[in-house]
Amino acid sequence: MRKIVIAGNWKMYKNQAESLKFVQEFKSEIEDTAEEREIILCAPFTSLTVMSKNLHGSRVKLGAQNVHWELEGAYTGEISGEMLTEIGVDYVVIGHSERRQYFGETDETVNLRLKAAQKYKLKPILCVGETKEQRDAGETENIIINQLKKGLLEIDQSNLIIAYEPIWAIGTGDTCKSTEANRVIGVIRQQLDNKDISIQYGGSVKPGNIDEIMAQPEIDGALVGGASLEAANFARIVKYQ
Ligand code: PGA
Repeated sequence: MRKIVIAGNWKMYKNQAESLKFVQEFKSEIEDTAEEREIILCAPFTSLTVMSKNLHGSRVKLGAQNVHWELEGAYTGEISGEMLTEIGVDYVVIGHSERRQYFGETDETVNLRLKAAQKYKLKPILCVGETKEQRDAGETENIIINQLKKGLLEIDQSNLIIAYEPIWAIGTGDTCKSTEANRVIGVIRQQLDNKDISIQYGGSVKPGNIDEIMAQPEIDGALVGGASLEAANFARIVKYQ
């Protein structure tokens, strides 16, 4: 059975005090949300410990935004899966386009990070998506199929979430049409051995478009950036109709 998963990706926003304030507000806002919806907050590393303590016993799960493939070592600036699970993190975003674009993330490093996440019992959210130029050149399907093929090499498909995030729709307000997102997510599902993997849409998801996005049959959830930074906004997204 495909699970509904709504995740907030805070990127490099919110210090500990701001994160705590959000958690306190958000917990009360989402109390009456339908039971079967998984709710995740992917926060900066510095906020994870305080959030873990304050989310204890709530239905909101915690995610990180990166994980290294080694258990430990001389990897300045990186973090290991064991360090994340120790503080109560359950999910991790891997291969976000901002990591690929600004920090040299490749399909090969994405693959290593996915393996490490699974090894340390974190559930990875693998991001794939095309640029505007690739879309205009008619390469959307090829790009995504290639990202999946390389990223998912020897990956256990029973512990995985995928997010389709067209890069031109991220942070731009320019949402992909819900029918088009549905079509591409259908293409992604065709590539997978496990058809029950939850596949999210991400890119300018807001309270105003979430209902339409979630009405699409192939779309199992959303990965939300900007609109997840404010508790009332993200609560409305989680409580889509
Ligand atoms: P956005 O970001 O919702 O601000 O477009 C989405 C993402 O980067 O995951």
